[in-house]
Amino acid sequence: MPVYIVILGPPGAGKGTQSRKLAKKLKLAHISSGDLFRENLKNGTKLGKLADEYIRKGELVPDDVTIGMVSDRLSQKDTVNGAIFDGFPRTPAQAEALGKMLAEFGGEVNMAAYIRVPDEELIERLAGRLTCRENGHIFHRKYNPPKETGRCDYDGSDLYQREDDQAETVKRRIDVYHEQTRPLKEYYQKLGLLFEVNGEQSIEDVMVDLLEYLSVEK
Ligand code: AP5
Repeated sequence: MPVYIVILGPPGAGKGTQSRKLAKKLKLAHISSGDLFRENLKNGTKLGKLADEYIRKGELVPDDVTIGMVSDRLSQKDTVNGAIFDGFPRTPAQAEALGKMLAEFGGEVNMAAYIRVPDEELIERLAGRLTCRENGHIFHRKYNPPKETGRCDYDGSDLYQREDDQAETVKRRIDVYHEQTRPLKEYYQKLGLLFEVNGEQSIEDVMVDLLEYLSVEK
């Protein structure tokens, strides 16, 4: 039976950081809607160009476009054991759509982990974030620095600051999160699937809490 885990939280909470580690540990596919948009943009696709118009402003990409993209990704072979969803769903319509998609694969959301971090901390995290050009590996100037300045530890590609990590866009992204995505916490709580994690701990300790909840050996 495939396992599907949703990682919820505001921009900069650590969704990408934890999802990548968790996916590796549990041998599940990592499905990040943000990464998929950035990959499309890098490849110059129509979808990438459309998404970029919204991402630059810190707004959400329309539901139909996002749902279609995630649905395509879910049909790839590496999702056979299940997947970790990072940054998807972000609206109630996306959450409903995800439930229907998974039902087609004979599954359902098994857990929704909400990473709790206050807004002030998010701003500092995003201002210092460094992202790897080639594969999206995530670092932080202070909290998770690369071994060599400006170079990714994993693939050696250069590190850059995401354009949507500029202060003004970050503020908008946080507002959009509170308006449109935060209600999903209640959505999954009502389904009895929500696990809330204190995201103000070290990266390692957040992972320990997630694994403990999932009853997986650390
Ligand atoms: P997306 O790429 O998903 O961005 P986001 O949700 O805003 O989240 P981030 O990637 O910014 O942060 P994160 O929580 O993954 O934190 P990270 O691990 O990097 O989306 C970008 C845009 O695409 C959206 O604004 C929207 O326009 C569009 N989009 C995407 N999905 C969509 C959808 N479903 N519907 C519509 N539109 C969509 O960590 C952040 C930093 O903190 C890093 O530097 C990291 O090293 C550091 N850090 C992590 N954990 C810790 C810790 N415990 N302690 C200290 N530092 C830490």
